[in-house]
Amino acid sequence: MTTTGQPQRQRIMSGMRPTGRLHLGHYMGVLRNWVAMQPTYDCYFMVADWHALTTKYDQTDSLVENRIEMVLDWLACGVDPEQSTIYVQSQIPEIAELHLLLSMLVPLPWVENDPTLKDMVKDPSADLHYGLLGYPILQTADILAMLGDKVPVGKDQLAHLEISRDIARRFNHVYQTDLFPEPRPLLTETPLLMGLDGNKMGKSNNNGILLSDTAEETAKKLKGAITDTARVKLSDPGDPTACQVVYPYYQLFADAEVQALVAKECQAAERGCMACKKQLTEVINELLKPIRERRATFANDKGQVMAVLAEGQQKARAQAADVLATVRQAVKLV
Ligand code: TRP
Ligand code: SF4
Repeated sequence: MTTTGQPQRQRIMSGMRPTGRLHLGHYMGVLRNWVAMQPTYDCYFMVADWHALTTKYDQTDSLVENRIEMVLDWLACGVDPEQSTIYVQSQIPEIAELHLLLSMLVPLPWVENDPTLKDMVKDPSADLHYGLLGYPILQTADILAMLGDKVPVGKDQLAHLEISRDIARRFNHVYQTDLFPEPRPLLTETPLLMGLDGNKMGKSNNNGILLSDTAEETAKKLKGAITDTARVKLSDPGDPTACQVVYPYYQLFADAEVQALVAKECQAAERGCMACKKQLTEVINELLKPIRERRATFANDKGQVMAVLAEGQQKARAQAADVLATVRQAVKLV
């Protein structure tokens, strides 16, 4: 069976850098969407470990462990190896070859004007190096090696994807081929989930509920979440709109009746912030329960996880090898 050419179903290609354990924000913003897409699209989900090197090239001790932990989080959330291809970028050397060939076609201003790199290009003290500048080209190689035509991304990635389309178009034009689809963004609704301290929830800020946290750890973290800071005593009426974390979490995780009740009782000073957090803890632990259970099952069977990645590698490599065979011909390397 040849895999080159347009796949029958539209193909999703997406990736994530393995920089640490994933949190609730990743679930609500990304993984939930990936899971929902699986029945409709032919999905390729990639651990972008080379991309992690573009900023952390000197911190590689945990790279292998991090990618396993991240795949555990994916599987826990319902990313399904029966439906989707799950693989590690650095195990597909064809991606690096494609990156190299594509890099010849990319005028420097295309990457220099990428909004995420622009500031670094102008700042002489920034740790800007050749590999980092190539970030969007490597990402393009990820997508095109799998002939991805839809890429689920957040708004911050739209500029990268525009470069990807420009590169695909340019390759097709220069080498007179129609090999590459022009990958389109699949803009997913990503609710902004605040960190428990009211700052952006980040992998490194340590202010989020991790998918690998236990129910007790979750309770402890939520206890420390900030609320309406103007509210000191239980008898003070609260203001849900000024409650920076707890109420917004209710809006995301609880049903409408619960939300209304919380708002009413808060405003009437009938509900204390401690009790309020406790109830929220139950709601969130309920949501995370099946995710934790699945995670534990896979974590106890690392062999199965390795098997998932081996199978994904095989499928992804077959696809990439097919594409690269056509690419080498188009470039007239053979
Ligand atoms: N740049 C993406 C991020 O930081 C990760 C990524 C790597 C990716 N390769 C990709 C996303 C290909 C979509 C398609 O989140
Ligand atoms: Fe926030 Fe609940 Fe406290 Fe009101 S009672 S301020 S909603 S934590």
